[in-house]
Amino acid sequence: MAASPRAFVLRHTRLRPVLGLEQIRLHLADDALSLWRAVQLETGDPDAPIPYWAFAWGGGLAIAHYLRDRPATVAGRRVLDLASGSGLCAIAALQAGASDAIAVDIDVRAVAAIGLNARANGRRLTMLRRDVLDDEPPDVDVILAGDCWYEARLAARVLPWLRRAREAGIEVLVGDPGRAHLPVAELVELATYDVRTTTELEDLAHRRGRVYSLLPPGTGGAVS
Ligand SMILES: C[S@@+](CC[C@H](N)C(=O)[O-])C[C@H]1O[C@@H](n2cnc3c(N)ncnc32)[C@H](O)[C@@H]1O
Repeated sequence: MAASPRAFVLRHTRLRPVLGLEQIRLHLADDALSLWRAVQLETGDPDAPIPYWAFAWGGGLAIAHYLRDRPATVAGRRVLDLASGSGLCAIAALQAGASDAIAVDIDVRAVAAIGLNARANGRRLTMLRRDVLDDEPPDVDVILAGDCWYEARLAARVLPWLRRAREAGIEVLVGDPGRAHLPVAELVELATYDVRTTTELEDLAHRRGRVYSLLPPGTGGAVS
């Protein structure tokens, strides 16, 4: 019988501090490929998604650094962490003083990992397993989008949704380690960090993680 998503996450990860962000502890795995195989076996689905939730990705790490350095960005504000994975950005936002955080992901094991990680860091958040990208803008002040531009199909859906949110007056912070599909022309760079991703699925363990703000519609612009 298949394990519950929570039991699966616990069985395949180890709770440990995030490198460079030791105030955050996450349930992380060591070997992405063997964990991916375990997910495929568990679900009986050869097309099961990569277990993104078991790693801290470059984009989310950059946002987490930024919020540690500039807590006023989210302090007292309601935050939505889009494509949350492990919950890293939502947890960083709550540590920085966000009043509420909603962590959204489509993967059932991500939602389980987010719950476990929030608890491990003594934080409460709302977990939402849902594809929100066709929804109206959410009722929040800030959206954090960490590492959402790693594949073309998702990239093509994320940007219009974030644009609508920006139009509705929501601040949008993007974190990215140099993915091909990043819409740089619509972003203003705010900060850069050396980040260490925790998965061998990346070609480089050390990357430059950048944090950007999405420009309000109609303002055009370029990145530095
Ligand atoms: C590369 S991971 C980034 C995780 C985290 N933000 C970070 O930077 O560590 C991308 C995440 O996007 C999620 N995802 C993919 N499509 C999605 C969608 N339509 N809505 C919400 N999450 C989605 C995946 O399940 C995965 O957890």
